[in-house]
Amino acid sequence: MQKNLSHGIVAACCIALSTAATSETIVASNLRDPMEITIAPSGDLFVVEREGRVLRVHPTTGAMFVIGTIPVTALRIQEKSSNWAREDGLLGITIDPAFETNQRLYLYYSAPDKMLNRLSRFTLNEGLIDLKSEKMILEIPTDRRDKVCHQAGSLSFGTDGLLYLSTGDNTNPFESGGVAPIDDRDGRDHCNAMRSAGNTNDLRGKVLRIKPTEKGYDIPAGNLFKPGTPKTRPEIFVMGCRNPFRLSLDPKTHTVYWGEVGPDANSPNNKGPAGHDEVNQAKTAGNHGWPFCVGNNKPYPIVDFATGKITSTTDPAAPINPGTHNTGLRELPPARSALIWYPYADSAEFPLVGKGGRNAMAGPVFYFDAKRKYNIFNKEDDHTLITYDWMRNKAWKVKLDAQENISGMTVFLEGLQHPMDMEVAADGTIYLLEYGSDWYFNTNGKIRRILPDQGNQAPKIAIKKTSATQFDAVDVSDPEKEAVTIKWYHSTNTTDKEIGKGATITISDITSGELRAVATDPKGSYSVARFSFEAPALPPLTIKLAGKPASASFGQTLNYEVSGAKDQKTIAVRARYIPPTGHDAGGPAFSDDVTKLITSRQCLACHQIDTTSVGPRYFDVSMRYRSDSQAMEKLRSKLKTGGAGAWGEIPMPPQAAVSDQEATTIINAILGLSAGSSEAKGSAKGQLILPPAPASAAPNGAWEIIAEASGNARARILINEK
Ligand code: HEC
Repeated sequence: MQKNLSHGIVAACCIALSTAATSETIVASNLRDPMEITIAPSGDLFVVEREGRVLRVHPTTGAMFVIGTIPVTALRIQEKSSNWAREDGLLGITIDPAFETNQRLYLYYSAPDKMLNRLSRFTLNEGLIDLKSEKMILEIPTDRRDKVCHQAGSLSFGTDGLLYLSTGDNTNPFESGGVAPIDDRDGRDHCNAMRSAGNTNDLRGKVLRIKPTEKGYDIPAGNLFKPGTPKTRPEIFVMGCRNPFRLSLDPKTHTVYWGEVGPDANSPNNKGPAGHDEVNQAKTAGNHGWPFCVGNNKPYPIVDFATGKITSTTDPAAPINPGTHNTGLRELPPARSALIWYPYADSAEFPLVGKGGRNAMAGPVFYFDAKRKYNIFNKEDDHTLITYDWMRNKAWKVKLDAQENISGMTVFLEGLQHPMDMEVAADGTIYLLEYGSDWYFNTNGKIRRILPDQGNQAPKIAIKKTSATQFDAVDVSDPEKEAVTIKWYHSTNTTDKEIGKGATITISDITSGELRAVATDPKGSYSVARFSFEAPALPPLTIKLAGKPASASFGQTLNYEVSGAKDQKTIAVRARYIPPTGHDAGGPAFSDDVTKLITSRQCLACHQIDTTSVGPRYFDVSMRYRSDSQAMEKLRSKLKTGGAGAWGEIPMPPQAAVSDQEATTIINAILGLSAGSSEAKGSAKGQLILPPAPASAAPNGAWEIIAEASGNARARILINEK
C-alpha cells in the first residue's frame, strides 16, 4: 500500500459524483483504518481495522458493534515514524461458506508474538469473537525491519469453496530507485523481492489457494506447482505479486482478479521501465512477473547492486530468478501481462484511468440477474468487472466479453475517499469500504451502501444537542419532497435499541455509546446521523531523544525531552527492552502459572500489570521495590495485613486466601516484571539510563521508550538495540 512517500492529507469529501445513476447511504462512519469487508448471509457486514478491531455493522440502522479485538503488531500513533512493521496489522477477513450454521470466520493478521503473519479461523460465540476458538491455518514468516512494506492480506472464498489469500512481497520499496528491488547483497534481504515474490518456495508476493479442513487445509488440484515439486510451495496459485490489493473472484468462472500496487519510477531508465499499477486476471495458475516484469510484461534487467552494473536481461517468456537468497526454482514459469496497467503519467492504452498517484484495486464482477432486488448496472453490462483506485478515488466499469477480454471501459464513481474494498450483497446492494482521509490513524473511514438510482435519493438528517438531555433532528429534507419518518436508536458495543420516534428525543440516563437518528422516505431510502457520547481523546505527549539516535545499547544514557504535558510533575519516562519478536510483544508479563494463581486469588479485580486500576499497576510496584532488599518481607506482610498509604488513599484488603508460599511466588513474579526496564520521573527534560542486558534476553531487539503524564495520551517511540 505504501508507495508514495509524498502522500498528503486528502481533503475530506463525502459525496460521490457517480456517472452511473446511483443512490447512496453511509451506513458506517468513524472507522479506524478499515482494511477489508465481508457480508454475512443475514446482510450484516463484518469489517476489520488495521490495529485489530473486528466490527459488525447492521446496515439498515447503521449500528456498529466491536465484536472482538485481535492482538496484532501494527504501526500505532504513539510511534508513527517507526521504521518497524509499517504495513502490518489485522489485514483481511472473510466468512466461512457455511457461516450461518458454523459461525466461523477467517482472519489474516500480523502476529505480535512471532515474526509472521497468520491465517486463522475463529468461531463467534453469541456474536462475539472467541479468541480461544482460534484454529491456526497457515503461518507465513515475515520481515518487519527497515521499512519493509507490502503485506497485502486480502481473503476471499470462491464459489468453488476454495480460500484465496493475497500476500505482499514484504520488501522495502524505497532503496532501489523506483525500479525492481532486487538487491541481492547479504544483509539487504529487506530490499530483495527475489527472496519473496520471485521465489517459488516462499509464500510472500503470491495469491495462495487452499481448501480449509477441520484440521488445517488441503491443496486443491490446479495450483501452480504439483505437490512434491522440489523447491516449490503447493499453496501457490499465482506468484510474482508486489502488493496485491483486494482479491475478487468471478462467481461464475472462478477467475481471480486483483489490483497490484506498482513501483515508483516516474519514467523509464536503463535499470527498468516506468512503474505501473496493474489490474490482473488469472483464469488459471501462473506467474505474474514481479520483480522481473511489470505492466504488460515490461522486463527489468538484473542489476548488481554492489557495482550498479547490469548483469543480464529478463526474458518474460522464460524469466530467471538468479538471486542467491532465492530458495526456490531458478527457472520460473513464463510471466503474464496484466489485464490493465498504467503509470503515473497518462496511459496510452487506458486513457480513462487518468494520471497521478496510483493504487489499483479490483472489485466484484457484475452479472445481471433479473430475479435479484437490485442490479447496479443494466442488462447490457452483464459480465462487467468493477475496478477502482485508492489514490485516484474513482471506480471504473470494465466490460468483459465471452473470452473475459476487455470490450469497453467507463468511469463508474468519482469523488471517493480512499476506496479500500467493495463487495456485492446477495440482493445486489454494493458496499464500498472507504479507508478515510489519511494514510494512517484515520477515524473517518466509512461504508457506503450503493444502489441503482430508482429516481429516489435518500433524505438528509443531522443531530443537534439542544440541552443536557434533549437532542433534535435538524436539517431534515428529502430530495423528492416526500414525508420522512425519523427513528432514534442508541447502541453500545454489544446492544442496539430503538428508543423513540419523531423530531426530538429526550434522554436522561445515556452517557456512553452512540445515539443515531435514521430518516427514511416512503420508498425506503434512508440516512443515518450519529452523535457519540464517547469522551474526546486526550492531548498527546511528545518525547524526543537528544541526537535522534537510531539505536542504543544496554546501559547507555539517553537525554530526553517531553513536551505537551498538562502536569509536569506527573511525567514518567520509561525504557524497556523488548526481544526481537515484534513491537507489540514482550510487554511485562507473568508466566502462565503465575497468571493462573493471581487469577484464582482475585488479584486482577484490582490490579493490572501495565495499567492503573483500583490498586497500583504491578509494573510500578516492581520498579519501586526492585532494589529494596527488604521488598519481599514488606510486601508479604502488606498482603497479610492489607492497608493504605503506600500508593494512595484506597486500602488493599488483607489477602487472607494467599498462603505464604503463594505470596512468595507472586511477589517474586511482580518484582521480576521490571527486568530490562528503567525509569525517570517528574521532569520534562532529563536522563534515562538504559538497564543492563537481562540475563535471558535475546539480542537485536528494540528499546521501547514511553512517556506518560496525567491528562495526556502517552507517547511511545522505538529504537533498535545495537
Ligand atoms: C480490593 C482491591 C484489591 C485486591 C483484590 C488486591 N489488591 Fe493489592 N492493592 C490494592 C490497593 C488499593 C493497593 C494500594 C495500597 C496502598 O496504597 O498502600 C494495593 C497494593 C498492592 C501491592 C503494593 C503494596 C505496597 O505497599 O506497595 C501489592 C504487591 C499488591 N497490592 C498485591 C496484591 C496481590 C498479590 C493481590 C491478590 C492476592 C492483591 N494485591 C489484591 C488493592 C487490591
